Amino acid sequence: MNQLIELGRLAVQPQPDTLRVPEMEKGVGCDFSSYLLVPDTTLDERITAAMERLGSDLVILGHHYQRDEVIRFARFRGDSLKLSQQAAACDAKYIVFCGVHFMAESADVLRQPGQVVILPDLNAGCSMADMADIGQVETCWAELESLGDLGVVPVTYMNSTAAIKAFTGEHGGSVVTSSNAARVMEWALTQGQRVLFIPDEHLGRNTAYRMGIPLDQMVVWDPYQELGGNTEEAIRRSKIILWKGYCSVHQRFLPEHVDRVRAEHPGMRVIVHPECRFEVVQKADATGSTEGILRTITEAPAGSSWAVGTEVHLVNRMSKTMPDRTVISLDPHVCVCTTMFRITPQHLLWTLENLVEGNVVNRIAVPEKQRHWARVALDRMLRLR
Ligand code: 13P
Ligand code: SF4
Repeated sequence: MNQLIELGRLAVQPQPDTLRVPEMEKGVGCDFSSYLLVPDTTLDERITAAMERLGSDLVILGHHYQRDEVIRFARFRGDSLKLSQQAAACDAKYIVFCGVHFMAESADVLRQPGQVVILPDLNAGCSMADMADIGQVETCWAELESLGDLGVVPVTYMNSTAAIKAFTGEHGGSVVTSSNAARVMEWALTQGQRVLFIPDEHLGRNTAYRMGIPLDQMVVWDPYQELGGNTEEAIRRSKIILWKGYCSVHQRFLPEHVDRVRAEHPGMRVIVHPECRFEVVQKADATGSTEGILRTITEAPAGSSWAVGTEVHLVNRMSKTMPDRTVISLDPHVCVCTTMFRITPQHLLWTLENLVEGNVVNRIAVPEKQRHWARVALDRMLRLR
């Protein structure tokens, strides 16, 4: 019944067992490209051996969207909030973050002195986080300030750069994740009259609406237009100013997908991530962060069936690990986060074998000034938890 979509090793071609890796290139300190030749059959063994050598000096964190061949090595799995809490609490010397860039940056902001955060592939970014750059946010803020004292409190989604988190901290705001958005937004509205929510339009709208804020009290800020494309009057009337950004993976889920599931699978429940469009969230039975989705389905009765609107690696994993439930993707076409997918076992092996030799590769180091204010914004969120 469950439809598994095979994604395993799309990015790296399987290598035959017999493929010989030159002795010199098997060693550490060499660049990553030689690791592309490591045969699949020896990867797990070498990763495990490196992990054993590093012992308690190492913690591997894995986001739920990571591929199976990588996440199986994570000591902690979770959503953005859970992983940031783990990063803040762990005392390992090396934190290897199998996730995307903004997550590793947050871990670097929350780490203890002397700890080092590593992202196995520096190209693992987030297209949504890229939709707001600090220059645009500063321009937006200056334009809002030019309208007088509007009492705007910035709230930034975890999926944003450290520079934007720092801006948020410095201007009295907080970070938010998909699992605590309402709580943080409620707090923010006690600090001022309105919230500037960066950079996910959908998470901001879905959360504010659930809190009882009507849609006509929300405006969208398009960074490429003057006053974000709004009239001064509309901004003065608004409670929530939503940055025009979105996740290209979650935006693929459409209301028609929910209708189709309802027609084809009577009784099937629909659960979606709050990065999905408003119309999809309205039609769904439930929403949740990745951890929330996992918990809801895990705790549901055996025999229940679910259509899930989130990244397909998590959906496939739930389908495989919970054979007594039916778990399918809400969109029959594959919804892969291609940047999460960039982290391969080869990247993980490369970083670990280098660490064994004392070489730190792919370190994520947030500049000191940003660290301070980004920490303020993250701590505000973590205190509200
Ligand atoms: P979660 O915090 O729910 O894991 O979301 C992170 C993310 O990037 C979802 O696209
Ligand atoms: Fe970013 Fe979307 Fe990928 Fe999440 S799923 S990391 S929001 S691109």
